[in-house]
Amino acid sequence: MTVKIYVPRDTAALGLGANKVVAAIETEAAARGLDVAIVRNGSRGMHWLEPLVEVVVDGERIAYGPVKASDVPSLFDAGFVSGAAHPLCHGSTKDIPFLKQQTRLTFSRCGITDPLSLDDYRRFRGLTGLEKAVAMAPADVVKEVTDSGLRGRGGAGFPTGIKWKTVLDAAGDRKYIVCNADEGDSGTFADRMIMEGDPFVLIEGMAIAGLAAGATKGYIYTRSEYPHAIAIMSEAIEIARKAGVLGPSVLGSGRAFDMEVRTGAGAYVCGEETSLLNSLEGKRGVVRAKPPLPAHKGLFDCPTVINNVISLASVPVILDQGAAFYRDFGMGRSRGTIPIQIAGNVKHGGLYETAFGLSLGEIVDHIAGGTASGRPVKAVQVGGPLGAYFPRALFDTPFDYEAFAAKDGLIGHAGIVVFDDTADMLNQARFAMEFCAIESCGKCTPCRIGSTRGVEVADNIARGIEPEKNRELLADLCNTMKFGSLCALGGFTPYPVMSAMTHFPEDFSPAPVVQAAE
Ligand SMILES: Cc1cc2nc3c(=O)[nH]c(=O)nc-3n(C[C@H](O)[C@H](O)[C@H](O)COP(=O)(O)O)c2cc1C
Ligand code: SF4
Repeated sequence: MTVKIYVPRDTAALGLGANKVVAAIETEAAARGLDVAIVRNGSRGMHWLEPLVEVVVDGERIAYGPVKASDVPSLFDAGFVSGAAHPLCHGSTKDIPFLKQQTRLTFSRCGITDPLSLDDYRRFRGLTGLEKAVAMAPADVVKEVTDSGLRGRGGAGFPTGIKWKTVLDAAGDRKYIVCNADEGDSGTFADRMIMEGDPFVLIEGMAIAGLAAGATKGYIYTRSEYPHAIAIMSEAIEIARKAGVLGPSVLGSGRAFDMEVRTGAGAYVCGEETSLLNSLEGKRGVVRAKPPLPAHKGLFDCPTVINNVISLASVPVILDQGAAFYRDFGMGRSRGTIPIQIAGNVKHGGLYETAFGLSLGEIVDHIAGGTASGRPVKAVQVGGPLGAYFPRALFDTPFDYEAFAAKDGLIGHAGIVVFDDTADMLNQARFAMEFCAIESCGKCTPCRIGSTRGVEVADNIARGIEPEKNRELLADLCNTMKFGSLCALGGFTPYPVMSAMTHFPEDFSPAPVVQAAE
């Protein structure tokens, strides 16, 4: 009998030795005369257990992790091919609390299927949404997405359906769908996980977007630091094209849509949509002034939908199950589910998809299990390098766009990075300014010059030089950057800086540096 074993081919698992584990399993199985079939799946998103090896026993998947190549002989000795107990065994994968408590709509197949098997994809309801979309009028597809309440998961939270309608209504012979897969935010990996773990869902989402907005060509713009995602996505596109999912007649509908992957060098600002468009056109990644909006004049001056990977990958389930199903999850104006990416100093880091509305405290203390260091949590940065630092006093904030905005924060791409009490928040504020100085596209003065001045002012505070005056100067500088910058890189850098200063004032009053006597 052949034993089916899953070992992820996701970057996180590969980085932790998944290929060596596969080689060890093959060697050990051959030596013992056992017949094993290894499937390279995506990640389940439980990073502390990677590489997570799953063995299929009586149709159920039994989890072992984190597995090192050196653990493999003892796993065979214990009888893991029949799901036997072992110190690394976690029982049935689906019953692991971190996974069991999630609501996986966008990531429903990630880690379950073989990412490059279209048959697997179909078996788990793949292409059902696209099949429905090809039979609908474009305006009806747009309406379904609008009614679902889906908002952009790239950062700004703009309603996806409204963006699509603008492009559908725009005049133009050629229109484009651009998928923003630049994923530059600190502590984020949801886009990569989808591209590596369930690439067909993104293809399906983009094809639906193309049919809805009247675009026949799509581009996925990602970064060179994502070689595995690029390889898997490219292969999946080829497979989809051969199967007639993409091409001159999508699913035999007579309507065309095709796509390709484009790679950028990995500048943070190239995630900003207009800068991305410049980069995609082969120009320097500098931000364009708006208007015109990309929806009117985007790629090669044509009407263009630009959406984040997760926004697009959430569309198939909306078309499949209906707008009402999707919008039933969530709170307030934040509808559906959000893949929260938990990183930094935590026990249980990884991807946690859930309906909007969980409090930050629940996520940090219960789901992430607190800090890996065992020390108290001091601050949580939510929303990437431009997101605010939240102190424990704000842990009751629900994960919701408006609730975070009300606390001078943002959800962004839903990455959270946890810090323990050893973090120096003045240093973190300085880092935010330094990051902005390094990544600034240089187009506008508040960002280009302000960020460098910000580093100097933070250094002066750290040295105890006129601290009160310099704290005022830092706040003034933040105000200028917030209201005077052309895009959110300069405009939002004040969030981490000001939140650090507001919530952790003690870190901004270091003892003055004593000058040594001559
Ligand atoms: C400096 C900067 C970096 C950004 N990086 C990303 C990114 O990596 N991925 C992304 O989807 N959106 C990013 N955005 C937001 C995009 O400009 C844009 O809002 C988004 O791609 C729209 O897609 P959505 O509506 O699906 O979120 C960034 C914005 C700024 C200002
Ligand atoms: S805020 Fe910074 S990144 Fe944005 S346009 Fe101005 S200089 Fe460029």
